[in-house]
Amino acid sequence: MSIAQTLIRSRVVEALASPHGVDRYLELVNPMWAAREVRARVVEVRREVEVPGHPPVATLTLQPTSTWRGHRAGQHVQVGVDLPGARRATRVFSLSSAESGAGDRFTITVRANPDGQVSKHLVSAEPGLVVHLSQAQGGFVLPDRLPDHLLLISGGSGITPVMSMLRTLQRRTHRGRVTFLHYAQSPAHQIFADELAEIARAGYGIDLHLLHPELGDPALSPAWLGRVVPGYRDVPTWVCGPQPLVDAVRAAYVDPADPDGAPSPQLNVEWFKPPRASAGDVGGEVSFTRSGKAAVNTGANLLEQAEALGLRPEFGCRMGICFSCTAIKTEGTVRNVLTGETSSLPDEQIRICVSAPDGDCSVVL
Ligand SMILES: Cc1cc2nc3c(=O)[nH]c(=O)nc-3n(C[C@H](O)[C@H](O)[C@H](O)COP(=O)(O)OP(=O)(O)OC[C@H]3O[C@@H](n4cnc5c(N)ncnc54)[C@H](O)[C@@H]3O)c2cc1C
Ligand code: FES
Repeated sequence: MSIAQTLIRSRVVEALASPHGVDRYLELVNPMWAAREVRARVVEVRREVEVPGHPPVATLTLQPTSTWRGHRAGQHVQVGVDLPGARRATRVFSLSSAESGAGDRFTITVRANPDGQVSKHLVSAEPGLVVHLSQAQGGFVLPDRLPDHLLLISGGSGITPVMSMLRTLQRRTHRGRVTFLHYAQSPAHQIFADELAEIARAGYGIDLHLLHPELGDPALSPAWLGRVVPGYRDVPTWVCGPQPLVDAVRAAYVDPADPDGAPSPQLNVEWFKPPRASAGDVGGEVSFTRSGKAAVNTGANLLEQAEALGLRPEFGCRMGICFSCTAIKTEGTVRNVLTGETSSLPDEQIRICVSAPDGDCSVVL
């Protein structure tokens, strides 16, 4: 670290810049100067998929500030975008490039959600746009000691974290076996099509299957998976994709002879949305005390139940990662839809995007 960097990161300078912090002043001079925060400039936008009538997908190359500490293949990052009207909205995106070091460029690959706020903005971004970042986060990563055989499974835009893994394995010239199964609607919807076509052509020791079940390719089933990867339940596996695909993989990783009925511990799952199947109990009343709105509990998470009543609580990731939806639950029991844990404490802070009520519940919204 240079003397200038050490100085601007010092407690004395931070205290002098209080209450705004030194980064507020540095940002005014140059948005790419930062002492603690992480920001990045978009340096390239590449269209990956453009099918008429379907949401486009683009890969953005980001040059982060020197405060970026790098990422492990499979991790995600919170991206904050200043939207028109001076609102900042934050969403989470997996890094799609190979593992990065401190200050290194990296990519995210974004599918535009036609009903969403941030993804459309990013897909149509121009080079030069500056975005706000967290450090890389998440435990969906390759282990330090790589196994002899890895299985990567993805569907749609869920390809991004496993593509980071695949690219990292290639960069490290991994000698072990890699099987990669990817599901897309059609060849025209295939993200990273050119690179995957090159891998399919050249091999590089990767057993690649690009599948389009809507065009007649086999859907994922235990029998089919067992033919492609014999003994797959014992192979370290990473899966990311739409809920039906992840559900099918999780079901296939349950050994019929296992009395617990739990998927094999070799299976690692990354979700882009909280799984719906593990919602809370339906019934009872959910009341939002500040707005005075109430309705019968549908079992969905509290963010969705508030939105269904016309409320507009702040949210970011909708996955329990960013804490922007935190609200006070005054009464009732909520179930964390990701972990299944329940909590009945009064006046506790909860993340409403991953909290589903079990029966009656009151939240300050
Ligand atoms: C770990 C992780 C990794 C991810 N990686 C990627 C990635 O690599 N690539 C990628 O494209 N995406 C990724 N995502 C998804 C991404 O974070 C965003 O959710 C997605 O891009 C949509 O964001 P948006 O702002 O466009 O839509 P949002 O504005 O968040 O809207 C999304 C949906 O929320 C609902 N919604 C929003 N507002 C309301 C409202 N007021 N009332 C009712 N419903 C509402 C709607 O159903 C809408 O379709 C990832 C998510 C996670 C959690
Ligand atoms: S919206 Fe990010 S934690 Fe709820």
